[in-house]
Amino acid sequence: MALHDIVLLGDPILREVAEDIEDFDGELRSLVRDMFETMYHADGIGLAAPQIGLRKRVIVIDLRREDEDDQQIALVNPKVTWQSKDTAKQTEGCLSIPGLEEVVQRPAEVRVEAFDPDGNPVSFEADDLFARALQHEIDHLDGILFFDRVSALKRRMLMKKWKKQSEED
Ligand code: NI
Repeated sequence: MALHDIVLLGDPILREVAEDIEDFDGELRSLVRDMFETMYHADGIGLAAPQIGLRKRVIVIDLRREDEDDQQIALVNPKVTWQSKDTAKQTEGCLSIPGLEEVVQRPAEVRVEAFDPDGNPVSFEADDLFARALQHEIDHLDGILFFDRVSALKRRMLMKKWKKQSEED
């Protein structure tokens, strides 16, 4: 078990396309455990492997509220195989871009196909915050960040804020 540093905006790995996992072995299960630990430590609800510097198609999500038990979802090689025409808007942030938030419009519902960490295929539909978290994390596997999904104007404002924030640190 190990906590990992979270890679921040500016690191090229966040812009790379991650590679499919081929071996569902102990190393993968230990990676998944580390990712949950790192995500909980950072107080996040989702994390993708590139965010800890690994070009691997693995994501973890836990949307539980404080008073609830863990709802750990770990997906390997996840794919969005269908998305609704209906969209929804909600504010998003990202552990790799701390301090920045913006409203992002995305399909309201998606169907996802993936594998669990033991190599069993899983397929399900999601809506609401779960659909949003899935899309955000799967985007990370393709080098896409949430602010790529907002208008150019808003993106420029976010980048300005990020630059200013980074200079102050
Ligand atoms: Ni993110």
